[in-house]
Amino acid sequence: MKIQGTMRLSLLALALISAQASSQPTGEGQELVAAGDCIACHTKPGGKPFAGGLKMSTPVGDIYSTNITPDRQTGIGNYSYEDFAKALRRGVAKDGHNLYPAMPYTSFSKISDEDIRLLYDYFMHQVAPVSQRNQDTDITWPLNMRWPLSVWNLLFHDGDVYRADGGQSAQWNRGAYLVQGLGHCGSCHTPRGIGFEEKALDQHDGAFLTGGTLEGWHAPDLTGNVRVGLGRWSEQDIAAFLKTGHTRSSAAFGLMSEVVTRSTQHMSEPDLQAVAVYLKSLASSDPQAAAPKADTTTADALIRGEVSRPGAQAYMDNCAACHRLDGQGYAATFPALAHNPVVLSEDPSSLISMVLLGGKTPVTKRAITGLTMPGFAWRLDDRQVSDLLSFVRSGWGNNAPAVSSGEVKAVREKLPQPAEGGRVEGQ
Ligand code: HEC
Ligand code: HEC
Ligand code: HEC
Repeated sequence: MKIQGTMRLSLLALALISAQASSQPTGEGQELVAAGDCIACHTKPGGKPFAGGLKMSTPVGDIYSTNITPDRQTGIGNYSYEDFAKALRRGVAKDGHNLYPAMPYTSFSKISDEDIRLLYDYFMHQVAPVSQRNQDTDITWPLNMRWPLSVWNLLFHDGDVYRADGGQSAQWNRGAYLVQGLGHCGSCHTPRGIGFEEKALDQHDGAFLTGGTLEGWHAPDLTGNVRVGLGRWSEQDIAAFLKTGHTRSSAAFGLMSEVVTRSTQHMSEPDLQAVAVYLKSLASSDPQAAAPKADTTTADALIRGEVSRPGAQAYMDNCAACHRLDGQGYAATFPALAHNPVVLSEDPSSLISMVLLGGKTPVTKRAITGLTMPGFAWRLDDRQVSDLLSFVRSGWGNNAPAVSSGEVKAVREKLPQPAEGGRVEGQ
């Protein structure tokens, strides 16, 4: 009995020691891999983690992400640290071919040597090798030639490691480092130019994080703009949104819901706080912009049953149950539509995608089931959606431009066909 007891104890001790021995590199490496959201692009639906094969659209055709597990034949098992650093920072694979900038190496070039080392160790030692061949691109000749990418790099890629700004605090610099580098927030939130390049890679250029659109989703302005940006968000709101997927009045949806689930929720509290401090320091993209003002006319009219304005009846029938007559939603449950920057964004594509497809709040460690919004693609036609959204964008003091049915049509054509599950219950 005694011996057994001791043995159990020493096994426990051994387990603790080995957990401790490996916890340092695993923990840090894992956090960095999460912050870089490598898994998002390097895993296909239903596929093995990091084995690649996810189809990604580019302006010239579809490409597939590659296998970055340490398998020697089909993955990056033969990559040295230098090869790995070259792929991340310069967008060049081990055999010398240029990678398409769908791999965010223009951001990753800012990652420090130390962090690249931790990432490399993580992939070599913590990721299970998977044998899965890379898939060729669907891009046809002559556009499939990769050498023009080196010209692209000359034009758009400066490739510098992040350099701290001595005039700012350590916390601000940490936030800037994460947002510009590993977090590659600009790959969605910064507008793209004619070469598909991000128009800016840091705050020295006014276009940085002023909003971008891809695959039918608009990633909004993250500058201090008080109408469509984060001007009315506190640092706590931003950190909470990235950790839990919601604030009192908004919820992460679409592509951002996935970013929160896979990436930002795993970032440490101090890192999230640093990101918030940095984002709150960004000058407004439009200092003239005015915050929307409280206005009870819409709610009063709906309460009286007045639904003569185009879109009002559709709002009552389809949306009011959750988002309420006053457009305030329910705190931390159903987001507000009144005064919500995503509702006010110039580009309405996220709103259109949301109404057509519906959505689910991110599943996080704190919220293990998501709240769903049904999709209305089958119930509402282009005209009904545009009237409805124009109503939402001008009600309750909202001051955003109307949506045309042509805009709805354009987004509908780009969306994946809604699955059966996307249909409204009871239809
Ligand atoms: C936004 C999508 C995206 C994200 C995020 C991303 N990658 Fe990639 N990555 C790609 C694509 C696409 C390719 C292949 C490009 C090509 O074939 O031209 C690629 C290629 C690579 C390669 C070259 C390997 C090869 O043989 O092609 C490495 C190494 C790599 N990624 C590592 C990483 C790591 C590490 C992270 C996280 C820190 C990461 N990637 C995050 C899209 C992404
Ligand atoms: C894959 C694309 C993508 C990436 C990468 C991405 N975002 Fe987003 N983000 C979006 C989209 C789309 C939305 C709009 C949907 C929503 O509000 O949840 C959004 C919304 C947001 C919002 C809410 C804004 C508002 O007004 O409601 C914040 C804050 C945010 N993102 C911060 C970040 C930060 C910080 C990063 C980098 C760590 C990041 N995002 C990376 C696509 C992205
Ligand atoms: C069953 C309740 C429900 C109904 C009905 C509903 N929604 Fe939603 N709505 C939600 C939930 C939950 C979210 C958050 C979803 C997410 O995060 O993916 C949401 C999010 C949104 C958003 C994004 C706002 C943000 O900050 O997250 C918009 C815009 C929106 N809904 C508009 C509408 C419109 C317009 C209608 C009517 C056509 C509608 N909703 C009907 C529950 C609902």
